[in-house]
Amino acid sequence: MEVIIKQGKLDASRAAARVVARLIREKPDAVLGLATGSTPLPLYRELVRMHREEGLDFSRVVTFNLDEYLGLPPTHEQSYRQFMNRNLFDQINILPENTHVPDGMTQDVPASCAAYEQAIIDAGGIDLQLLGIGSDGHIGFNEPTSSFASRTRIKTLTPQTVADNARFFDGDESQVPRHCITMGIGTIMDARTNLLLAFGEGKAEAIAASVEGPVTSMVPASILQHHPVAKVFVDEASASTLELADYYQWVYNGKPDWQKDA
Ligand code: GLP
Repeated sequence: MEVIIKQGKLDASRAAARVVARLIREKPDAVLGLATGSTPLPLYRELVRMHREEGLDFSRVVTFNLDEYLGLPPTHEQSYRQFMNRNLFDQINILPENTHVPDGMTQDVPASCAAYEQAIIDAGGIDLQLLGIGSDGHIGFNEPTSSFASRTRIKTLTPQTVADNARFFDGDESQVPRHCITMGIGTIMDARTNLLLAFGEGKAEAIAASVEGPVTSMVPASILQHHPVAKVFVDEASASTLELADYYQWVYNGKPDWQKDA
């Protein structure tokens, strides 16, 4: 794992956005795995800026989102489809048919999940997957004890995740769906590169456990220790309990320029 500590979430997001932009410039038909939540928002804003000001071209880019709430129609304000349209897709030149989000309204969950996995394979696999992290260490909606071999499937949110996400539903936990469809940990591990972003003190414990703790399904993000290209972009607050923080800085500062945004 490579840990990149920046002072604040804006510099961390810009550094992560440069990695995404570099991939798109080198491979215009790149397949991106995308995430929702508050964490990737500054990164999406930076990609929109790069599109407007630097001509970053998404016309051949294909995307697959990690997850979606079950039972929310794509028109629901808090559906992840709406989130993506609002915060990224509507502001760049991506083709709507190239964007994929699991179908939260499917009547046949297993078939829909299998089709999602197949669509990823048909697209050539995910080149770069963006990830946030839950306060319990979840990635996508793969809650603690999710199988490391899991593929896209239905999951039940933990009470902690329901409580964490209530802020998007007027603070009303009863409005947060209990179930979702999420890519599995196996799906995420198949991505050629994984970028995990975390900001704020509330993520410090989950980040320390994921980066420096034992690999365990109790902390789903810890599996990234087994991924060949996993980059963790954190701000100082979420890095505050990392034991080897100074070493990560030392490594990053000593990198040759060509490697910094790769
Ligand atoms: C949800 C999403 C995750 C996200 C997490 C953290 O549970 N399914 O993909 O990482 O929230 O959200 P935030 O970035 O708002 O802290």
